Amino acid sequence: MTRGSQGVRTTAHAHAKFTQTDVRAAVAGLRGSTSFRAPLREYTSFKIGGPADVVCEPADIDDVCLVVRQARARKIPLFVLGGTNLLIRDGGIRGIVVSLARLRAIKEEPTAVLYAEGGVGMPTLIGYAIRHSLAGLEWAAGIPGTAAGCVVMNAGTKLGEMKDSIKAVRMVNMKGQIVDLEAAQVRFEYRRALLPRGIVVGVWLQLKPGVQSEIQRVVKDYLHYRRDTQPLAMPSAGCVFKNPPNDSAGRLIEAVGLKGARVGDAEVSMKHANFMVNRGQANAADVTALIGKVRRAIRRRVGVRLDLELKIVGET
Ligand code: EPU
Repeated sequence: MTRGSQGVRTTAHAHAKFTQTDVRAAVAGLRGSTSFRAPLREYTSFKIGGPADVVCEPADIDDVCLVVRQARARKIPLFVLGGTNLLIRDGGIRGIVVSLARLRAIKEEPTAVLYAEGGVGMPTLIGYAIRHSLAGLEWAAGIPGTAAGCVVMNAGTKLGEMKDSIKAVRMVNMKGQIVDLEAAQVRFEYRRALLPRGIVVGVWLQLKPGVQSEIQRVVKDYLHYRRDTQPLAMPSAGCVFKNPPNDSAGRLIEAVGLKGARVGDAEVSMKHANFMVNRGQANAADVTALIGKVRRAIRRRVGVRLDLELKIVGET
C-alpha cells in the first residue's frame, strides 16, 4: 500500500498518559467525522486490525491542521492511515487515527501537472490522468493505495516509482501549519521518502502530455499482468517483503516450497508468494507468525535475510 501509512507521533512515547476525555477534546470542533473505538480492520486492505481510540476523517486540509494542533496540545499520538502496505496489530492503536479519505480533490495545473490531495486513491488518479491524456503514472496501475501513501513510501513497481513524477509535496507540519516542499528538498530511497515530521496532504505530479489510447493500453496491459500474477481480489497488504538485491522475494519463497503455507487464516498466496492473503478471519498474530516462519526458512535454506516492506504498527 502500499503503500505507506504515515506514522506520526506527537509525543515522545507511544504510551503517554491521556484519557478518553483528552481524546474527545482533541477531535472537538472537527467538521469531518469522528468514530470512537472504531475497529481498524474496516480501514485496511488486509481487513485486519484492532480498535483505535478514535478514527477521524478531517473534512479538508484546515481540519487536518486543527486536529494536529489539538492533539499536540494534549500530547496525544496521531497515526495517519492511507497505506495499504500496512498491518495493524490486534490491540489496535492508542490515540487518534486520521484517515485522509475525504481529501480527494484533483486538479490539473500548467503544464501537465496534476495536484492530488492525499486521500485520492491511485486508481482514481490514474483514471483522471488517462482522461486528460497525461502519461507518467502507468507504472502504478493496480496499486490500491492513496496518493499520500505512495509519496510516503515512494511506492513503485518495475515500471517506475513515485519519485519519478513528484514535483512538490504539501504537508501539515507538527505545529499544524501547511508547508510545501519541492521534490529536491526530499530524499527518496527504495520504498521510503525521508520527509520532515508531519502529514502529507497533497502532491504535485509532473506528468507528460501523451496519446490517450496509448496510455490506456499500457495501463490495461499492466493491470492484466498484475491480475494474472497477484491475488488482487483477496484482502492483502501488497508485497510483504522488499526484494533482495537482484532477486525477487516471491521467487525465493516459492523456491523453498512455502506457497500456500498457513497460520490460521493467514496464507502465503498461491498466486504470488510475496503476498499474504487473509482468507477470512486472520488476525495480526497469525500474519506475524507466518512472516517469522517464511523469514526463518529463507534465512536457513537460502542464506538471505528478507526485510519487511509491510509496516507493522499498533499494540499486541
Ligand atoms: N516469481 C515466482 N514466484 C512467485 C512470485 C514471483 O517465481 O510466487 C517470479 C516471477 O515468475 C518473476 C519474478 O519472480 O520471474 C518477478 O516476479 P514479479 O514480476 O511478480 O515481480 P516481483 O519482483 O515479485 C515487484 C514488486 C511488486 C510489483 C511487481 C510488478 C516489490 C517488493 N515487488 O514484484 O510490488 O507489483 O514487481 O511490477 O517491489 C508491492 O510493492 O506491494 C508489490 C506487490
